[in-house]
Amino acid sequence: MNQWACGERLLIIAHRGASADAPENTMRAFQLACEQGADGIEFDVLLSADAIPIVIHDDTLDRTTNGTGPVKSMTAAQLQQLDAGDGETIPTLDQVLDTFGRNWLLNIEIKLYGWFNRGCEKAVAAVIAKHNLADHVVVSSFDFRVMRRARRVMPPGVGLALLRDNSYTYTHRFFKGQFDHPHFTLVTEKSMDMARATGQRVNVWTVDDSAEAQRLQALGVNALITNRPAALRTELGLT
Ligand code: G3P
Ligand code: MG
Repeated sequence: MNQWACGERLLIIAHRGASADAPENTMRAFQLACEQGADGIEFDVLLSADAIPIVIHDDTLDRTTNGTGPVKSMTAAQLQQLDAGDGETIPTLDQVLDTFGRNWLLNIEIKLYGWFNRGCEKAVAAVIAKHNLADHVVVSSFDFRVMRRARRVMPPGVGLALLRDNSYTYTHRFFKGQFDHPHFTLVTEKSMDMARATGQRVNVWTVDDSAEAQRLQALGVNALITNRPAALRTELGLT
């Protein structure tokens, strides 16, 4: 059984790692999330020029590294020469699963910028299968076409979730996974009733505000994806 679907305890998932306290989507941020008592990590994946899944949010290097230009213009080896903040490097998906996969929950968000499909879903599926971690993983994306392809190629046991925000509200008509990943503003008593009626578990992003976290906890969501796992655990009385 997928570990994300075991039990009713509220899960705290570190968004891009403990990204309030360390450079986002780096091994340091993931290690820190572990030390802060998170149940797992959310991180973003794109393909390098040589089709290796690497962990970075934007389609360009400018905001989070000392490089410039499109991520897809450099090989994984070249990308790993860059500084992703405080001397951290850009991890590959393989490295993250190798280091953190066994005892942790993993939410792999597949990013698609533009329309061209370079096979990211298949490449991600191969890395999950290599590490035999299907039961630890939820794969998510804002793009329902990515999720439809993921459904075809992921190893059995991987959880699937469409990400939804206000501008993507209609897309749930085109894809429904075992998990729903709504922006916190979309979560209401009514939406929770609908999720329960269809057997979906609800993992909400990105929740950093204490009062909002308490509202969602009272509504019975299954996981909170947050930049500040340690603080949220304390504020919700989870320590
Ligand atoms: O997976 C939840 C959240 O990460 C989605 O938005 O832009 O932070 O990847 P973003
Ligand atoms: Mg993300």
